[in-house]
Amino acid sequence: MNTPKRYLITAALPYANGLKHIGHLAGAYLPADIYVRYLKAQQRDVVFVCGSDEHGTAIPIQATKEGTTAQAIIDKYHPIIEQNFKDLGIAFDIYHRTSDPLHHETASAFFKNLEAKGDLETKTSEQYFDEAANTFLADRYIKGTCPSCGHKEAYGDQCEKCGKTLSPEELINPVSTLSGQAPIKKETTHWYLPLNRHEDFLREWILKEHANDWRPAVVGQCKSWIDGGLQPRAVTRDLDWGIKVPVKGSEGKVLYVWFDAPIGYISATKQWALNNNKDWSPYWNDKDTKLVHFIGKDNIVFHCIIFPVMLKLNGHILPENVPANEFMNLEGDKMSTSRGWSIEMDDYINKWIKKENGGDGLADSLRFYLTSIAPESKDSEFTWKGFQESVNGELVSIFANFVNRTWVLMHKLCNGKVPPFHTELIAAEAVSDNATDSFKGMIDAVKESKERITHLLEQYKFREAQFELIDLARKGNQYMQKQEPWIVAKTLDQNPDAQKIIDNTMHCCLQLCANLAILAQPFIPFTAKKMCYMMKVVDKMLEWENAGKFDLLKVGYTLRAPELLFRKIENEEIEAELAQLQANVAAKKTTMENTTATTEPTKDNSLKPEIVFDDFGKIDLRVGTIIEAKKVEKADKLLELLVDLGFEQRTILSGIAMHFKPEEIVGKQVTIVANLAPRKMRGIESKGMILMAEDAAGKLYFVQPSEAIAAGSTIA
Ligand code: 2FM
Ligand code: ZN
Repeated sequence: MNTPKRYLITAALPYANGLKHIGHLAGAYLPADIYVRYLKAQQRDVVFVCGSDEHGTAIPIQATKEGTTAQAIIDKYHPIIEQNFKDLGIAFDIYHRTSDPLHHETASAFFKNLEAKGDLETKTSEQYFDEAANTFLADRYIKGTCPSCGHKEAYGDQCEKCGKTLSPEELINPVSTLSGQAPIKKETTHWYLPLNRHEDFLREWILKEHANDWRPAVVGQCKSWIDGGLQPRAVTRDLDWGIKVPVKGSEGKVLYVWFDAPIGYISATKQWALNNNKDWSPYWNDKDTKLVHFIGKDNIVFHCIIFPVMLKLNGHILPENVPANEFMNLEGDKMSTSRGWSIEMDDYINKWIKKENGGDGLADSLRFYLTSIAPESKDSEFTWKGFQESVNGELVSIFANFVNRTWVLMHKLCNGKVPPFHTELIAAEAVSDNATDSFKGMIDAVKESKERITHLLEQYKFREAQFELIDLARKGNQYMQKQEPWIVAKTLDQNPDAQKIIDNTMHCCLQLCANLAILAQPFIPFTAKKMCYMMKVVDKMLEWENAGKFDLLKVGYTLRAPELLFRKIENEEIEAELAQLQANVAAKKTTMENTTATTEPTKDNSLKPEIVFDDFGKIDLRVGTIIEAKKVEKADKLLELLVDLGFEQRTILSGIAMHFKPEEIVGKQVTIVANLAPRKMRGIESKGMILMAEDAAGKLYFVQPSEAIAAGSTIA
């Protein structure tokens, strides 16, 4: 393909129903950002759009969990997620939201057009209905056993365990998540997108035209959908929350979230155009636009099959590529915010980036590690040890080390200025096959690296591209090591050429640093910016066409002192993160148990299985008095309590630090499970558990005797 006139790059709109984790970041946003930064460095016309997906059942379900409204949920999470992306350097041109009136208008007009052209069909069928809640059970309002993997908690739209896309009819033993009751079937009418009419087009477009340039896993998933026989897909739902179906006689119905959300890319582009006095239309309608969707693998069918059919019917261009990533696991298990087994972007930012000066180096550290393990062709694994090794072993020891040595030596041996280059010495350089032996070799190495990185980025191979970058920095270190300017400096008195030799070495290293900044910018943008500051050059130097040039820094120019680009990650920090992960899981478990007990409307079905009296008798419940309370270091959620049980004093760890200040709770009486087996967290042994009640809004309360009584009193 020739260079397109313009690019429209999208990253999957995250649901604004909670914080997003680093698996999401690695899956769609980071690779999209790297690609966009590279394109922009190439001076291409690019618009990078994203925003919050604010419809669908996920939002009101979260509202119920938090005891609030759907509107309050999206208003809470939209700005947090937007800011998290900014803090990690994800530079969208617009971060829109699907609750915006412009989006409602755009999606409604899209639907109306398809409906008017006869591209949709209506069908009346029997669907699951919850009699107690008096509502149809769309998507996440229904749960059951996954027919594919047997997972008991699969949703009506997807099994979160095996990732299979489902319809409520496929669930075994379905139950309503609203009332917990088994649903009945009731007739309802909906609009359908007849995918079956477009099978030939999809076969031709994906399985022939893009068979070789799309990732094999993407083509494979599409092939299995198409070969399985495409069916009409319902594009409306019986729900309150969403975009009202813009057709008379459709009260109580909204557009299916997966119909409206991808149209969100178009409305975001419209809003961007309005903000920037531009025309949005060529970005979606002109064949000379290259449209690329960055997504995770669970979104493939929507972006490769359903949305393209919608785009074609509405007269838009089709995506040129959909480089979907596989999943990133965490320390041997699937990432899951609900189980607490995840690293939320927000947590990482607060803990690592905001706490220290120059913390944006740690934003780049995360970006770097995530790209080095990008799940481009298979699932990958984030480990804290891996993070430490990657940062310390590559960013600190190779990249930052080279830049820092160059700066220190330049200040020491060249008066803090870019030294001249003495061409006459070059003729005498030994010719060698090894790039790192000579100045000429280094120039060639930079040019080759640029070529390879460019090629890899164009093919969405970000992991390998970043590897090339580090390899170039490694060559810089080797070159410097071979030239040994600090040794040459010892011969200044005897060798009339010594200063010239040093000048040439340092000139080469400095120009290489400038090149590294350009090539690094898409991957570690905060660092590239810091390097520009050190070099006293404007960001314009970072344009891609400058890579490969060796006159980027002008001779005689005084440079600033070196900045700390990356810092080492210490063992204790890694251990603290691992302990925090365990504590999060424990805290979520408690919260989930409490939430189930307090917020589900029909208590009968949320009860745990019946136990006999003897089971209950095994639990030794006691009244205790908190006599000391303090925060556990580096564990945001844990308090360490010393509790008086009358007959002894015990240390108990409790995941309530987000809810109570230590000084507030000293003296309180609490209920303790006194015979629970001890557990070690953060190296502290916790002997027992404090019972808490939680209301629908997630507020915690101590379970206490109605009046103060002797510590150690039994509860039965
Ligand atoms: O899977 C998700 O998180 C969806 N909210 C992605 C939507 S992408 C696009 F279609 F908007
Ligand atoms: Zn499953």
